[in-house]
Amino acid sequence: MDKKWWMESIGYQIYPKSFFDSNDDGIGDLNGIYQKLEYLKDLGVNLIWICPFYDSPMDDNGYDVRNFFDVAKEFGTMDDVNKLIEKAHQLGIKVILDFVLNHTSDEHPWFIESRSSVDNPYRDYYIWHEGRQKDGQKIEPTNWGSFFGGSCWKYDEPTDSYYMKIFSDKMPDLNWKNEKVHDEMIQIAKKWLDKGIDGFRIDAVSHLDRAEYEDVKGSTDRYPLDWHKFSNLPKVHDYLKKLNQEVFSKYDCLTIGEVGGAASIDQGIKYASFDRDELSMVFNFDHNWCNNLHEVTSTKQLKTNVVLLKSVFNKWQESFKDIGWLPLNWLNHDQPRLMSQYGDYKFPKASGKMLATALHMMRGTPFIYQGEEIGMTNFPFEDVSQFNDISSVGTYRYHLEKEPDDPVKALKKAALRSRDNPRTPMQWSNDIYAGFSTEKPWMMVNPNYKTINVEKNLKDQDSLWYHYQRLIDLRKNSKYRDVIIYGEYQLLDPDDQNLYTYKRILKDQTLLIINSFSRKKLKYDLSSYEMINKVISNYQKQSIKNQTIYLKPYESIVFEVKEKL
Ligand code: GLC
Ligand code: CA
Repeated sequence: MDKKWWMESIGYQIYPKSFFDSNDDGIGDLNGIYQKLEYLKDLGVNLIWICPFYDSPMDDNGYDVRNFFDVAKEFGTMDDVNKLIEKAHQLGIKVILDFVLNHTSDEHPWFIESRSSVDNPYRDYYIWHEGRQKDGQKIEPTNWGSFFGGSCWKYDEPTDSYYMKIFSDKMPDLNWKNEKVHDEMIQIAKKWLDKGIDGFRIDAVSHLDRAEYEDVKGSTDRYPLDWHKFSNLPKVHDYLKKLNQEVFSKYDCLTIGEVGGAASIDQGIKYASFDRDELSMVFNFDHNWCNNLHEVTSTKQLKTNVVLLKSVFNKWQESFKDIGWLPLNWLNHDQPRLMSQYGDYKFPKASGKMLATALHMMRGTPFIYQGEEIGMTNFPFEDVSQFNDISSVGTYRYHLEKEPDDPVKALKKAALRSRDNPRTPMQWSNDIYAGFSTEKPWMMVNPNYKTINVEKNLKDQDSLWYHYQRLIDLRKNSKYRDVIIYGEYQLLDPDDQNLYTYKRILKDQTLLIINSFSRKKLKYDLSSYEMINKVISNYQKQSIKNQTIYLKPYESIVFEVKEKL
């Protein structure tokens, strides 16, 4: 295996709109990131992924790009981008940007041209189709549903036809069957890499090819969402190979594809194994669904399925063992907050640290999502009017349509997974608006900012923040560096419903990682190990008697061990 810089990096994801507002207009911006680079360096981060800041009408907070080479006014200017990249590099921090190539904004000049007439040179940049006739009415070419609710086709008056859009109406999908689209995207990627960025997180990359236009069958939904119609289809790989050949392989860059949803491990391997020459790694979301979400009612709470969670992580770790590399992330800007998903509000410090250790000791490149390092939580939504994200409103409506009598449950279900949760402003201090801005922010601040904030974490050597810093330091600078980065991963006790235990092994070094996902006191047998050293823990003192460790709630501990023969 060729070692690459990005295998040894520690990533941090920034959602610019919510990170830090430098000019007090209530909106996070590029200068805000610039001002917080030292903060990230102190944490130990040496790679940042910045979500889109390109010119955009902000229907989907910037994932609807109007101009790939311009900066949204609210975020700053191209000068700010240059300054940010330069300072990050001076501090030893690499920078990757979001590359959105499945769609543009409907306000992108290409789309304005494309929709204007059927023989416009840009017509084939997007996916157009005639409608069908049904009972004397014109309807969509297929019944396919979109990710954000409703049909994935939108009728367009000027040419009396439909365009495809698997996200929002304002995000028409690009037509990758058209090679001119490839050329445009190749130019865009090159231009940014030539500017000195270090790679891309590639948005929605699995959707670039479409199935035959046949209706989804067997669903009672008017517009059933069937991922298979536009996910992981064969041509995507041809497109990625081309991008790799013509751009990525010419730079020492990192490319991480977002291949969520229906991507199985086999598909993941196709995108990112070393011998495929497509992407460096892929983000998957299998570990984001390991609880009883589907059983949640207005009173029944979430519960983590530890056995499932372990099996998911294990499958990816095992499958990529010799043939590829993985990012390690608990969440991103589309997922609920980690503390609210798998943590325990009664034991925030212990459970937060345990979750951090459980992930950071695996093989791969860790990515921390902003605010994760201080244990930020989901927002306590009380009403659907509080949702800002378009997809949350869609989810609420979907559940309400299914059970019109239970709006409380519909709200709870939508709230638990709402993409607004990770997007509330970063909680820097207990000042007004959590120190994010002095003006009312674009998005509500979580009311718990007085107890959960950066300033408070930094004053307490025992805080979650310092635990993240220690984990990072172990991976970067300690004598365990190599075993943590490159060691073999071996799951232990797969059927234990409360403990997540695994080993990492490299040459003569073995780490034993024990994580309790329970409030209960538990014990764990250590008799097959000779204890050499305690590497990191979330309680100062351990209780070990007769070769058994007695674990406190959410106790997490890493030992260097030798296996007894
Ligand atoms: C990805 C992004 C998400 C966005 C979507 C459309 O899933 O992570 O935030 O809404 O793509 O660009
Ligand atoms: Ca601002």
